[in-house]
Amino acid sequence: MADTFDLVVIGSGPGGYVCAIKAAQLGLKVAVVEKRKTYGGTCLNVGCIPSKALLYASESFAEAGHSFAQLGIEVEPKLNLDQMMAHKDKTVKANVDGVAFLFKKNKITGVTGTGRIKSAGEVEVTKDDGSTETLAAKTICIATGSDVAGIPGLDVKFDETTIVSSDHAIALPKVPEKMVVVGGGVIGLELGSVWARLGAKVTVVEFLDKILGPMDQEVSTAFQKLLVKQGLEFKLGAKVTGVGKTEAGAKVTFEPVKGGEAETLDADVVLVATGRKPYTEGLGLEEAGVKLDERGRVEIDGHFKTNVDGIYAIGDVVKGAMLAHKAEDEGVALAEILAGQAGHVNYDAIPSVVYTEPEVASVGKTEEELKKAGVDYKVGKFPFMANGRARAMLKTDGFVKILVDARTDRVLGAHILGADAGDLIAEAALLMEFGGASEDLARVSHAHPTLSEAVREAAFAAFAKPIHI
Ligand code: NAI
Repeated sequence: MADTFDLVVIGSGPGGYVCAIKAAQLGLKVAVVEKRKTYGGTCLNVGCIPSKALLYASESFAEAGHSFAQLGIEVEPKLNLDQMMAHKDKTVKANVDGVAFLFKKNKITGVTGTGRIKSAGEVEVTKDDGSTETLAAKTICIATGSDVAGIPGLDVKFDETTIVSSDHAIALPKVPEKMVVVGGGVIGLELGSVWARLGAKVTVVEFLDKILGPMDQEVSTAFQKLLVKQGLEFKLGAKVTGVGKTEAGAKVTFEPVKGGEAETLDADVVLVATGRKPYTEGLGLEEAGVKLDERGRVEIDGHFKTNVDGIYAIGDVVKGAMLAHKAEDEGVALAEILAGQAGHVNYDAIPSVVYTEPEVASVGKTEEELKKAGVDYKVGKFPFMANGRARAMLKTDGFVKILVDARTDRVLGAHILGADAGDLIAEAALLMEFGGASEDLARVSHAHPTLSEAVREAAFAAFAKPIHI
């Protein structure tokens, strides 16, 4: 054991690598242990980044086939799936190489291998060739992320060609004729959209009676209608009880949650997207005495500290939303705390985005949550149909919905269904971070013509009246 590091981070996903960079910027001597060949974790290697490359490419393909003609562009798009995958792979490579560059730039020691906590103060790394190296650490940060959860109560045999998880649904060698997606959550709808746009007949089977479970109900209902128009089929309130291979492909059996006849669907490919679980296997947590909560997550206090001194945890492996940017925020906050500063994350203003067409984005409370909490609220809404820029772009689907406290006008939640919703939501998140009111937002000058005017109009609708409707 040569050096003692101020911080050894296990896992180089958005939580781990951001924490490492921030800590190094603040003067700490940092090492990162990563078992993949490349940095970036699930998000950069097999999650957010590759899926966004495919979402963009497949959306462009669908647009070329559908709306280009209305814009006066006549083309007959032809799919080159190999090239689309090459674009995805190139995007991933640029991003993971970018993290390696940032590690070098910030003098962070990267160690490839599987990390295990030997004790508070020691991380053992097992390399591919079976050799081990032990790193001495004043503090350890567990940032090991999450893994595919599978279907609760079912032993699904992923062969990763016909029965696939998200890791492989981004790399199918050809467009399936029929695809069944188990789970109408974020992954199911994003990757289901990709393959539907490329020509697959996609059926989503979802346990709940709505898609995107935690999403505002009005947004979820409107969004589902738009996806149906795009050709996706939905079986809601349906519990999947069997997923298996057949001679021709695979089959999915499900039964109505409220009782009734079971149904079976045949498919060429089944994507199981029923959630993710914290990744703690082989980390030596039990031996080190690190406590997990009832859902298998590493238990932490308000400052990301586990019950063992010197061991911290952030990201998907701890409580809270499994979102890359939540992990990044925690990474920055923890690095600041370790450097003696006041790191903090405001969990009430973390946006969440579904990168479909249109996009769905939200921050803060849903209308259902406000009702349940007995809050007296007002709603301001504005449709993209009445926005000039949206009309010019043929992107008139969806609306902006802002929820405010009826007494104080403080913004409590914002929900956007529409083009570029994922970017537009940043304005609402910023406003909420500052405890702003809908009047604040409405009085800010917004460039014309932009989609962001719809956000302003929804704010106008909440505290007074919109202009253009
Ligand atoms: P999810 O929790 O979003 O959705 C899983 C869905 O599967 C739920 O609606 C659930 O009711 C359903 N389900 C569970 N068991 C079922 C059964 N037996 N039969 C039918 N339906 C069943 O999980 P998902 O989509 O796998 O995503 C995992 C995590 O990754 C989430 O926390 C998500 O937020 C995150 N993620 C975020 C993205 C983004 O921010 N754009 C993109 C991809 C993933």
